[in-house]
Amino acid sequence: MNKLKSVSKELVFIFLSVFVFSYVSNGQTAMINSQSRHLTSLNGDWNVIIDPTGLGDWRQVWQEKKPEKKTDFVEYSFEGAPVLKVPGDFNSQMPELTYFEGVVWYKKQINYTLRKGKRLFLYFGAVNYKADVFLNGERIGSHEGGFTPFQFEITEKIKDGVNALIVKVDNKRLKNGIPGLGYDWFNYGGITREVNLIETGHTYIEDYQIQLPKESRKEISGWIKLNGANKEQGLKVKIPELGLVYSTKSDSSGMARLKFQASFKPWSPDNPKLYKVLVESETDTIEDEIGFRNIEVRGNKVFLNGKMIFLKGVNIHEENPYKGAKAFSSEDAVLLLNSAKELGCNLVRLAHYPHNEHMIKQAEKMGLMVWSELPIYQHIEFSDTAVPLKMELMLKEMIQRDRNRCSVVIWSLSNETYTSTPGRDLELVSLTKKCREADPTRLLTHVVNNQAYNNNTFKVWDTLYRYADLISLNEYVGWYVPWQGKPVDTKWELNYPDKPVFISEFGAEALYGSKGPIDEAAFWTEEYQEQIYIDQLKMFSTTPNLCGIAPWLLFDYRSLGRMHPVYQKGFNRKGLLSEKGEKKKAWQVMHEHYLKYKK
Ligand code: GCU
Repeated sequence: MNKLKSVSKELVFIFLSVFVFSYVSNGQTAMINSQSRHLTSLNGDWNVIIDPTGLGDWRQVWQEKKPEKKTDFVEYSFEGAPVLKVPGDFNSQMPELTYFEGVVWYKKQINYTLRKGKRLFLYFGAVNYKADVFLNGERIGSHEGGFTPFQFEITEKIKDGVNALIVKVDNKRLKNGIPGLGYDWFNYGGITREVNLIETGHTYIEDYQIQLPKESRKEISGWIKLNGANKEQGLKVKIPELGLVYSTKSDSSGMARLKFQASFKPWSPDNPKLYKVLVESETDTIEDEIGFRNIEVRGNKVFLNGKMIFLKGVNIHEENPYKGAKAFSSEDAVLLLNSAKELGCNLVRLAHYPHNEHMIKQAEKMGLMVWSELPIYQHIEFSDTAVPLKMELMLKEMIQRDRNRCSVVIWSLSNETYTSTPGRDLELVSLTKKCREADPTRLLTHVVNNQAYNNNTFKVWDTLYRYADLISLNEYVGWYVPWQGKPVDTKWELNYPDKPVFISEFGAEALYGSKGPIDEAAFWTEEYQEQIYIDQLKMFSTTPNLCGIAPWLLFDYRSLGRMHPVYQKGFNRKGLLSEKGEKKKAWQVMHEHYLKYKK
């Protein structure tokens, strides 16, 4: 009887997983390196219907019904509707959408003729938070998750000539969402990144990994994956600058393993060397720009290309501070990353979700290492059956997009989740193993904030640290909690004393130019923030195994929970710079500190 019971339980779980997975997203994981493909951009003006009551489903607005008889009328239309720019959040484009968390229906008319023998994909860089996609009145699929790309094959759905693409975008928070209901950043909704039509041959290069493993500086071990009927093909990887041509063949599954050596000039912050790489099959060619480096932990230190490196980080949210809007363009990326470089950083922690591809690629060009993170943030419903599937999909999408981006050196799988949440350890340990399997070439961490700080001692004990390469922790001593002794005398008890320690957040708030008693937090003075930075750096001078730090954060940014009417006004003021780019006194403290490290 027991055997029968366990079999039926298994069958139930399998059914649930398939059903939930298909519900969560039947968008495909996007093909890699979309920018190098045969693209038709759908960016620009889209007509929108704002749907605060969610009636658009009941009216089936994607059908675009039209009056037929003189007595007919239809109570919606995209013709004459407001226009929003894509990519971009909708909150910052219309005053009536400033605080909106709900449904906006987007429409784009597409003129297209698919060439004979070709395949066509509809690619979204990201939609926050949930997308339901309709083409010519037919639902083609949905996707959940606001920060990673997805695609739908529409080869059989596109018509020659005019097509109507309609996307239902919903940025309402979900209890079982990732992130969940509460987070300390602005919930920018919309089609926040680019939309493209991608035309490929019948069999195309879907994915590839061409990277150095942790332990080698000259031997590439990777793979290429084809998608299509003609799976067994001759393949080549070419690196013209090195005169390298590596040939191989894909098997009946379309997979080909790669293993070759070359004397690469390694990518590093001091020398961000990128190589033009061509990946060729008999029916497709992809051009990429790839940097070759390896990143590893040896003992309690981090090594880049075999040399120990101290990670001089800073936290950045995906927001253009000057516009108070979602960052999405290469110009936004240059603005944010130039500011990090000016501070003296060699690493940026892109909090708390995968940022747009421009950030990753600009970081490569500018010599900045990247910490990329999943929005598994604080309160997550780990015991909800849909949540592990959503986490796994988001992990897959994050790795798939950036697996060949040498700037990405750390995958961070969570931030400040609670050991007391049912299912948290189980699901995050499982996700960690999946991440290691999917990408053994990078470092992996979880950020924790539940270490105990008592009697001027940090007890750092989270289970997750057993599975992570770095012990990453956020602490705000001096701001959220007063010092309990001299910073330099702070003691540390690490449950894994031989692992590197990364302080992934520290800092305090200050309103640029705020005047008041400089020893009282309640006046948000720059001097109060500055003193906390001075004290924190004193503590770091005696923190064991310290491999890196990242102040929270670069710019003041929008977060509606920050409600003080004088000092915050809906901004989290922990920036080293104001949202107008004004450097606070603490900026100088950090800058001088980073200058002390030899290049
Ligand atoms: C937390 C959290 C951040 C948040 C910060 C703060 O550590 O990770 O997302 O913004 O603290 O309180 O400002």
